[in-house]
Amino acid sequence: AIDLTGRHFLKELDFSAEEFRHLVELAARLKAAKRSGTEEQRLRGRNIALIFEKTSTRTRCSFEIAAADQGARTTYLDPASSQIGHKESVKDTARVLGRMFDGIEYRGHAQEIVEELAAHAGVPVWNGLTDEWHPTQMLADVLTMTEHSAKPLNEIAYAYLGDARYNMGNSLLTTGALLGMDVRIVGPRILWPGESVVAAARRLAERTGGRVTLTEDVTEGVRGVDYVHTDVWVSMGEPKEMWDERIALLGRYAVTMDVLRATGNPDVKFMHCLPAFHDLGTAVGREINEQYGLDSLEVTDEVFESEHSVVFDQAENRMHTIKAVLVATLG
Ligand code: CP
Ligand code: NVA
Repeated sequence: AIDLTGRHFLKELDFSAEEFRHLVELAARLKAAKRSGTEEQRLRGRNIALIFEKTSTRTRCSFEIAAADQGARTTYLDPASSQIGHKESVKDTARVLGRMFDGIEYRGHAQEIVEELAAHAGVPVWNGLTDEWHPTQMLADVLTMTEHSAKPLNEIAYAYLGDARYNMGNSLLTTGALLGMDVRIVGPRILWPGESVVAAARRLAERTGGRVTLTEDVTEGVRGVDYVHTDVWVSMGEPKEMWDERIALLGRYAVTMDVLRATGNPDVKFMHCLPAFHDLGTAVGREINEQYGLDSLEVTDEVFESEHSVVFDQAENRMHTIKAVLVATLG
């Protein structure tokens, strides 16, 4: 039996395929239990710290709802109001919070920070997104793909279009390889994941029977896939000045109806971790629209709102999968 009690959740590479699948299956059971009103609280009286050095809607709410459903309490530390990193070191913060809390979520910049928290907290630490990895998102993405596919994971193919040199690209490449899936990174070479990530994914794929493809060619990259994933072209923490360069580099990798047709799969599904620039009606969107005269960025509104889109199932699954991480590691 798989026992993850006391484990951290920092990046996909720390887990075996069996452990990862165990978390996804646990999430599916917790989701079914919540829906049927039979959820049992396994975290009553536990205390959870949520450190956010970047903003969040889904991840924060998922941790809060998951904890509440399971009977645990949360304390939210926002990007401005804690001492972490400014006045107090990560190591000291870890030792303080570790005395009060049963587990700590961290969202922020460098992966080293969450690794350092984990090294000194003495309680499980969960990565709620760093520049390098978004592992809780991967559990939700895999659960969503499982729900929308009749076939087993190792027969599923997906392509990720866009900036792949950041958390989502790294995580999708690594997770697909870990689970023996057919995963394609589609985008300009200079935005492919770094060498060490690609090498790790290739090593994993050799063991698991997965397939790893990196290509600049959209038509070749998406042919026959079951899922097309994308993400924003400029991530949190990156300077606004990046938009110029990214729009120039990634314009032809936007997910349009033509891209979905190029898969040759009429049932192809569209996925996005969100938030998404599918219309430019938000404050940031309007700025970009004024500057570049574009109506959408990484995905068209037509695709986002189409029957191919499963993005809100994916968003809901953030909560069920984060609950699985809490239950499994604190259980
Ligand atoms: N997908 C995701 O992590 O969303 P938030 O930034 O809203 O948490
Ligand atoms: N790549 C995005 C993901 C947001 C969930 C970012 O880091 O901003």
